[in-house]
Amino acid sequence: MNIKRALEWYFTGAITTRPPELLPAYKRIVKTMQEFGRVPSAHVADDDPYHPFVGKKRKSDNVHDFDFAGLRNSVALVAELSGATTGGGAEVDYAIRAGMPVLATWHKAHHASWYITQWANSSCAPPNLQLIPYESEDHLEGIIKTFCSGVQKALPPRNGLYIVVEGGDGCGKSTQSGRLSAYLKEKGYDVAGSREPGGTEQAERIRNVLLSPREKEPLHPLAELFLFEAARAQLFDQVIKPNLREGRMVVTDRSFLSTFAYQGFGRQLGVQTIDPLNQLATDGISPDLAFIIDVDFSQAKIAVGEFGNDRDRIEREGQEFHARVRQGYLAAAERHRNVHVIPYIVNGIDEMQARIRVITDKFLEENVIK
Ligand code: TYD
Repeated sequence: MNIKRALEWYFTGAITTRPPELLPAYKRIVKTMQEFGRVPSAHVADDDPYHPFVGKKRKSDNVHDFDFAGLRNSVALVAELSGATTGGGAEVDYAIRAGMPVLATWHKAHHASWYITQWANSSCAPPNLQLIPYESEDHLEGIIKTFCSGVQKALPPRNGLYIVVEGGDGCGKSTQSGRLSAYLKEKGYDVAGSREPGGTEQAERIRNVLLSPREKEPLHPLAELFLFEAARAQLFDQVIKPNLREGRMVVTDRSFLSTFAYQGFGRQLGVQTIDPLNQLATDGISPDLAFIIDVDFSQAKIAVGEFGNDRDRIEREGQEFHARVRQGYLAAAERHRNVHVIPYIVNGIDEMQARIRVITDKFLEENVIK
């Protein structure tokens, strides 16, 4: 299987001060990045004389209202921060926290963003941030080329496809992912199925510690998080990466999006804690296509007591926990590319599957090179 890899980078520059003499540098940055793929940017206005992107309207002058969609879909961010006290800070902050590689650069004759430089030089400097001043435009071009080709090389190979089905407890996602696998096999794809937590001998043992109704000792939220990540690291090493390398499709029940929703939101450990661990355990591989079955706790099977005394620790959690998980899933859908929310339909297994298949077919048509 040969998969198209559409690389998207994101560029942001000083918007508050926007020194006019930097326009050529902005243009050079964008041109260099374009050699490696598409470059979306937030700071776009028809009438902006200093910005290289014209022809698109920006929604607002307030930095917090900028459309972050391009950033969400990007693999990395380059920020030009010369002359700005805070300019570009919101996007850089977002990208760092989302775990993407970030290059922040500024002309030596200017000051860079105070906020970002302080962060980079602090004891909690984010490992995904590079802060490099440039001396000339040629120097700048060199820095960006090194950065972009480094990011490109670090991206996992793309000859397989990683598809996940997610959702709150009792939404029937296992049924949906099983049917999707069968459908893809019928279409002639080589499909490997798996699940999280689990999928290897060791990871299934970790699953038992996490979920067996027999386990009575309460688990510290961090212990729970580390165990989910431990199982994930094992699954990626033993199953997901080898299968993707060999060009198979991997369809799994759950993924790091579960950790984002359950531990990040449900347990309220927060995105800053969850993101780097997810990144580490998956080696930066995220689903090419994901479905989240969006279910309200009261509609799910669990609420009508189908699990009885067999409920695991997480299923036993109350309504508020599950409501936070749901909110976490919706937040995940906002921030990751190719994540589709499928509304839960009571007694609607076939209908939900039909929706999943329509989206999958379209995705395959657009991305698989025959
Ligand atoms: P699941 O595999 O869906 O089992 P079942 O088939 O019994 O529904 O359940 C796994 C449980 O673990 C589910 O409650 C969600 C939870 N979970 C997390 O809290 N974090 C994670 O990272 C993962 C993968 C699962």
